[in-house]
Amino acid sequence: MGYAPGMPSIPRVRLADGTHVPALGQGTWRMGERPGARAAEADALRRGLDLGLTLIDTAEMYGDGGAEAVVGRAIAGRRDGVFVVSKVHPQHAGRRAAVAACERSLARLAIDRIDLYLLHWRGTVPLAETVEAFERLKRDGKIARWGVSNFDVDDLDELAGLAHGSGCAANQVLFHLGERGIERGALPRCRAWPMPVMAYSPFDEGRLPANPALARIARDAGIAPATLALAWVLANDNVIAIPKAARREHQEAIVAAAGVTIAPATAAAIACAFPAPKRRTPLAML
Ligand SMILES: NC(=O)c1ccc[n+]([C@@H]2O[C@H](COP(=O)([O-])OP(=O)(O)OC[C@H]3O[C@@H](n4cnc5c(N)ncnc54)[C@H](OP(=O)(O)O)[C@@H]3O)[C@@H](O)[C@H]2O)c1
Repeated sequence: MGYAPGMPSIPRVRLADGTHVPALGQGTWRMGERPGARAAEADALRRGLDLGLTLIDTAEMYGDGGAEAVVGRAIAGRRDGVFVVSKVHPQHAGRRAAVAACERSLARLAIDRIDLYLLHWRGTVPLAETVEAFERLKRDGKIARWGVSNFDVDDLDELAGLAHGSGCAANQVLFHLGERGIERGALPRCRAWPMPVMAYSPFDEGRLPANPALARIARDAGIAPATLALAWVLANDNVIAIPKAARREHQEAIVAAAGVTIAPATAAAIACAFPAPKRRTPLAML
């Protein structure tokens, strides 16, 4: 696992099957899109691993497979210390197509097993068929476990009613200070399951650290805005955050969030500036 002198250790979260994984990882969306940038992107991911960010989230869709190739390059020679998450595109989520898509992902990642394989979002393939394909991939040792992404409460209820549906290990959804809808829906449903939520875009795709209200609260608390935004996500039980950061100073601000306890006055100011919705809202997604 990563060694990060002087940095806080990363807390761990329990997946539905009992495995413990880091509560903070690295996203890869928009990586692998330009061949000339791949070496630098792999270096950034390796630096993140050195800082203790040993869970990496990717998808066959990112860079049309390019992001998985970058991840493969980054973890070459150190695969054992990394928890690899990838996602199947809904168009490839059928009985046979999902198996073929997973094999293509494994080849790009240059590994023989994906630690967590997610359905990226719901498409037209019946859910039961996708679950069947995931269970087959698990039996064949090509994935260690499977989960879903962008699933709202009704999707999770449907999944729970399917044969092997209870095998779902995690649900990856949009969650940050400015988008708290899951607190009235998917988050309590996942806690009751129980399975963790993986919070994607925890910086609102980079917009949140520059938010004036957050900047003011962070200044009063003496914490960098990005660190505070992420510490707030991590303070929610059962949540794994997967921020994306290419720059070293950004990665350090991310790791620092693991050592932050939010004081009551700061929590109150956050609740005032970024209120939770009062009633159920449909799941937001990118
Ligand atoms: N399942 C899904 O449907 C889904 C959808 C979207 C995303 N995701 C996953 O979630 C990951 C994260 O989401 P995201 O990439 O959309 O956005 P994000 O993590 O919310 O934001 C990334 C942006 O924030 C910047 N940043 C990082 N650390 C910062 C800091 N300390 N201070 C200021 N800016 C900072 C990054 O800049 P630099 O890169 O320049 O450092 C980058 O531009 C994705 O990469 C992907 O793996 C999943």
